[in-house]
Amino acid sequence: MVETPTFQKVANKGDLREGGLLGVQIDSKRIVLAMVEGNVYAMNAVCSHKGAPLEEGTLMGYDLKCPWHFALFDVRTGKVSARTVWATDLESYPVQVDQTTGDILINVSSAGSADSAKESGVT
Ligand code: FES
Repeated sequence: MVETPTFQKVANKGDLREGGLLGVQIDSKRIVLAMVEGNVYAMNAVCSHKGAPLEEGTLMGYDLKCPWHFALFDVRTGKVSARTVWATDLESYPVQVDQTTGDILINVSSAGSADSAKESGVT
């Protein structure tokens, strides 16, 4: 896989461990990488509540817990949990991993948001 103008290399899979977080920066964006079940996800690293550095949070399954006031974000979508509504949804970014080199590439120009994510609404 070749680095393109849209997908930029930010790290290598060797920099991350299962259940781990890693803060990276592209242009002026701070991004947190998370590895869950061998897959890498990327989302905005600045908490939408008071701006905590989410790479210093805790990953519990797909939920990233903010280190300051414990908002929960789904690393797959950036969507905040319905249990922690004091924060709002964050952007998530497409990730590619080069299977040969392990390089992690992110496309920050096509940010996804949780707006399109389906929610069960079951309480
Ligand atoms: S700064 Fe993240 S929950 Fe307050």
